[in-house]
Amino acid sequence: MVRIGMLTSGGDCQSLNATMRGVAKALYRLYDDVQIIGFEDGYKGLMYSDYRIMEPRDFSGILTEGGTILGTSRQPFKLMTVPDENGLDKVELMKQTYKKLKLQCLVVLGGNGSQKTANLLSEEGLNVIGLPKTIDNDLWGTDMTFGFQSAMNIATNAIDCIHTTAASHGRVFIIEVMGHKVGWLTLQAGIAGGADVILIPEIPYDIEKVAEAVKRRNKVGKRFTIIAVAEGAISKEDAALSKKELKKKKEQEKNIYPSISYEIAAKMEEMTGIETRVTVPGHMQRGGEPCAYDRVLSSRLGARAAQMIYNEEYGNLVVIRNNEITKIPLKETAGKLKTVDPKDSMVEEAKLLGITFGD
Ligand code: F6P
Repeated sequence: MVRIGMLTSGGDCQSLNATMRGVAKALYRLYDDVQIIGFEDGYKGLMYSDYRIMEPRDFSGILTEGGTILGTSRQPFKLMTVPDENGLDKVELMKQTYKKLKLQCLVVLGGNGSQKTANLLSEEGLNVIGLPKTIDNDLWGTDMTFGFQSAMNIATNAIDCIHTTAASHGRVFIIEVMGHKVGWLTLQAGIAGGADVILIPEIPYDIEKVAEAVKRRNKVGKRFTIIAVAEGAISKEDAALSKKELKKKKEQEKNIYPSISYEIAAKMEEMTGIETRVTVPGHMQRGGEPCAYDRVLSSRLGARAAQMIYNEEYGNLVVIRNNEITKIPLKETAGKLKTVDPKDSMVEEAKLLGITFGD
């Protein structure tokens, strides 16, 4: 019998179950005798032997279900080499579970940090296959991660809903979209939702330029302005600070501004005199059912992951490039972020449409 371990790690997203279903369906077809072991709550389950023997029926009816049937947790990569509360070596614990269960391969559904750990385990001699999850679409080496399109639809819908109320009241509205380090979600939901201003971490903004854009719209009779702001958007001033200085500043301001959007809102009111409101869809963006695009992507990635296991092509991340499912070595993607290049054609096209980035 062939035994395959599977876990979901890091922040959840809509298409985790669809991806696991894809892997399982193909595995059950490829092997005559295969058992799937599902680890609970990500790497924690692998460390502490917290697992379930999955049955084919566990993967039925989950294509459209959000979240993850296995549960997940954040286990930061930098803490993987720090002993646990009982002084035990986490990497050794994971290796022991893998060996004890006589796994043929471990399938890791996760984003950046999780794939870094997957690479570490691969370098430690385990057979590992990674699958690219995250609503941020910031995993290096793949054109698309599963979860992104579903989250984008939700963020776009939030902007759509805000549009009508913003227009009715003649207000400035800030919609804060998820993404601390990377702005793909804000950029694309912003374009899809017809935002007038898009602020992302990769393009530090000048608040004067943002205020000018609002005033310009007002002058030509446009009563409202929609500003899509990424969680990690940063002003030019703050971007010029050292990490330590910025941390101190954020710490001092946290009781005044719960997040960057509130700071921008306060400044917009002050600088333009126009009533400004903030909407934060937050974790809604990671919830609910996967969109059709994600279901297809997840099913394709999952099927190919199973094939790669069958062909013993371990140590790889399954990716999509130019609409083809392929693979890249985990060590090539580990630790690299796919950020928005300020010169990316999508940014340029957005600027041609008149969208302001505050740069
Ligand atoms: O990485 C996915 C993500 O949703 C980011 O967009 C967001 O910044 C972060 O996770 C939120 O993390 P948590 O769920 O731990 O609050």
